[in-house]
Amino acid sequence: MSDSPPDVRILPITPQDLPRAAELFHALHTFNATFDPRFTLADDWPTHLRAAYERTRDDPDTLWTLAWHGEEAVGLLLAQAHLDPPIFRHRRWLELSALYVEPSYRRHGVARLLVEYLQAWARQRGFDAIQLYVSAANTGARQFYARQGFELLQEIWRYRL
Ligand SMILES: CC(C)(COP(=O)(O)OP(=O)(O)OC[C@H]1O[C@@H](n2cnc3c(N)ncnc32)[C@H](O)[C@@H]1OP(=O)(O)O)[C@@H](O)C(=O)NCCC(=O)NCCS
Repeated sequence: MSDSPPDVRILPITPQDLPRAAELFHALHTFNATFDPRFTLADDWPTHLRAAYERTRDDPDTLWTLAWHGEEAVGLLLAQAHLDPPIFRHRRWLELSALYVEPSYRRHGVARLLVEYLQAWARQRGFDAIQLYVSAANTGARQFYARQGFELLQEIWRYRL
């Protein structure tokens, strides 16, 4: 059973936090690349991450958050809205695009707190769902999402050439 650390706080990422957020982001993609090399970050990924942060940190449809235990940032969650082409009736949707918890803090409810924060944030903004991509082989994350009430709706199939 997850026991929530009593003093974990979920806070927006400030410019001063960006280096730590980038470390967690890099750790997430390094882990994801063990399942699929297409998750491997480009050499200049820090420049792109900083540019995305500068561009969207004040955007009401983008969420940049860290989970803090005391003075230490131990979890990262990023989410942003997408707008599909006008040929579709239902165009606006929300993607949970990054979720990572420092290994030594896992199984204490940190990710659950981050996702609950996202759920409240998404409801306030009128989204009717949260979607995400997860590697089929990432069984830990799949079990986590299932436990939080997410359902599998689609699959990505790849034909290797
Ligand atoms: C997936 C991840 C974010 C979960 O973070 P966490 O803080 O450990 O998760 P929580 O403690 O909030 O878990 C809540 C519940 O989810 C389930 N769960 C979480 N991790 C699990 C795992 N590895 N295996 C099975 N169930 C898991 C459990 O039911 C857990 O409750 P319990 O501990 O009482 O059994 C974390 O393992 C992680 O950062 N993994 C690497 C990055 C990753 O895979 N990110 C998602 C990519 S899409």
